[in-house]
Amino acid sequence: MTTAPIAIYNPPVALPRLKVHSDAAVAVRRARVGDVPRLYEIINHYAALGDMLPKTMDQLYHRIRDFNVADAGGEVVGCAALKTTWQDLAEVVSVAVHPDFQGKGVGKRLVEPLFDEARELGIPTLFTLTLQPVFFSRLGFREVPKFIFPHKIWQDCKTCFKQDRCDEIAMVCSV
Ligand SMILES: CC(C)(COP(=O)(O)OP(=O)(O)OC[C@H]1O[C@@H](n2cnc3c(N)ncnc32)[C@H](O)[C@@H]1OP(=O)(O)O)[C@@H](O)C(=O)NCCC(=O)NCCS
Repeated sequence: MTTAPIAIYNPPVALPRLKVHSDAAVAVRRARVGDVPRLYEIINHYAALGDMLPKTMDQLYHRIRDFNVADAGGEVVGCAALKTTWQDLAEVVSVAVHPDFQGKGVGKRLVEPLFDEARELGIPTLFTLTLQPVFFSRLGFREVPKFIFPHKIWQDCKTCFKQDRCDEIAMVCSV
């Protein structure tokens, strides 16, 4: 018997209204469990727009150690995570910055430490599947055909609402 893939329903999530001013200084730090509700709001807001994959609270609590966050005056205004995929490959996932803090280098500062984390893990190559190729090209990523990746990385596709009409661009970067 074949089973049809089940896409996760992706309801609209309102962006958090920030108390902090958009000029506030931003620090990038490791995520804490207390950050999960805000991560859920930011990621799923963009996911509902079709910009990135959704995450459940369950997934976020399980993978909280993968995440870095951008902290402005005690409020989380952005995030990025590194997901190890195979012996020589890790994926940059869940890169998102609150609109009030976009265009200030916060996204770049969130992704840059992931290179060091990959190096420490002994992983030589990062990849991403994205609709923001210019942002990632500024970080040194280059576009590659999707089929070069091992089947293992397509696990997320099983629950993605786009599934067979995937428009994401595959990009890689040596660390
Ligand atoms: C993509 C995103 C994370 C970028 O965050 P950001 O903080 O605005 O980006 P930065 O200010 O760090 O930009 C870094 C560089 O990328 C460029 N850049 C960022 N977003 C860009 C875009 N949409 N188009 C073109 N260039 C872009 C910037 O001009 C900057 O270039 P520079 O280094 O030459 O000055 C942010 O727009 C976002 O959260 N988007 C919605 C969620 C999303 O699409 N995430 C990506 C999922 S894969």
